[in-house]
Amino acid sequence: MEVSKLSLRFASRVIVVLAYILIFFLVLYLWISTPSAKEIKHSFNETKIVKETWKNKKKVVIYAATKFFNMDITTERFLSKCHSTKGYCRISEDPKDLDVADAILFHNADFSPEKVPMPRLRNRPHVIWSLESPAHDSFRPLKDVINWTMTYRLDADIWYPYGHFVRRKSPQQVDYEAIWAAKDQTKIATWLASNCFSQNRRFDLIKKLIDKGLPLDNWGRCGKTPPICEGVSNQGSPCVVDLIRPYKFYMSVENSNCLNYVTEKFYETLRSRMAVPIVLSRKFYRQLGAPDDAFIAIDDFKSLDELIFHVKKVAADKELYLKYHKWRETHEVKPEHDDTTGFCELCRRLQNSDLGSKSYADLAWWHGYNTCDQSIADRFLGPPTG
Ligand SMILES: *[C@@H]1O[C@H](CO)[C@@H](O)[C@H](O)[C@H]1NC(C)=O
Ligand SMILES: *[C@@H]1O[C@H](CO)[C@@H](O)[C@H](O)[C@H]1NC(C)=O
Repeated sequence: MEVSKLSLRFASRVIVVLAYILIFFLVLYLWISTPSAKEIKHSFNETKIVKETWKNKKKVVIYAATKFFNMDITTERFLSKCHSTKGYCRISEDPKDLDVADAILFHNADFSPEKVPMPRLRNRPHVIWSLESPAHDSFRPLKDVINWTMTYRLDADIWYPYGHFVRRKSPQQVDYEAIWAAKDQTKIATWLASNCFSQNRRFDLIKKLIDKGLPLDNWGRCGKTPPICEGVSNQGSPCVVDLIRPYKFYMSVENSNCLNYVTEKFYETLRSRMAVPIVLSRKFYRQLGAPDDAFIAIDDFKSLDELIFHVKKVAADKELYLKYHKWRETHEVKPEHDDTTGFCELCRRLQNSDLGSKSYADLAWWHGYNTCDQSIADRFLGPPTG
């Protein structure tokens, strides 16, 4: 009697302990197997994408119901990097193709309600595309017109970033000497911009940094005419690479600070210009999977003086400066047009037999000013006046 009671108590203890162990491993498993948002987005397995698409040879047509800032939306311009769907996906602007179209695409800035085909082809996804932040673009279509969004937002249905990071399969050697040799030792920081007035007061911040002693060459419409790249004040031109590459730092400050809004200024600084971006706020870049040591964030510092002291120190110290390039061993930056994102991803998505069923009831809110924080510079500039 006594013995069986004892062994019963012992058995129940064992069960409790086993249950704890089980729960522990369950939690551990869930924790390991649930990737964070940024991991989902940059763990693209390109071999897998290519193989899957190779099997799926369904031909798809995207009907462009609008222009792109009044320019044509063509297969040549937007699908040329889509190796995995080459020959199986095309864009058409010809209304005759509306009947065979697999999706209907609208570029937001060119959208008008008349562009939505009547009667609406309800069984084809209607896709809204925008590369602008909500500070400069409010989404126009009404309730339940749009099924999919195609933007830089991580949670867009089709992710269309200005660039993105991928982890290298194996570490790569970096030619640090070449990076250092490309730098002109008299050139520290630079900025090139065409939009000098923005609500986040980035230009005021740049002017204050110069006043406080940051050696910064300010090119473009907000500064001086560049010695090369005459008249070019946008980021796209190849001569911009030659203009910026000799500098150690580039002021990569966006015209607005909205969720996931990071433009080619940042990615191209790392990719083609081989410089270190100085950004306004770390959190925006961290969310996108940017390695922490690939850039300098102004909001890491207590004051602009401390930031300037740090930038000057790093610029003068080869070893310290090259540490900001160490991420290149493990990561690679992909450009805006890339087989894994944007239009190429839209093509692949349309090859699926099940497209699901969703639509946006409040698109204006989804892409709204509520996703922006324009007050980051206030900490360094004081509250805005006027
Ligand atoms: C990518 O997918 C292929 C095929 O599924 C697999 O063999 C390979 O290990 C994957 N690579 C990575 C880096 O996940
Ligand atoms: C698109 O939205 C409409 C309207 O809500 C809906 O009827 C249709 O099923 C949706 N299609 C897809 C592919 O999500």
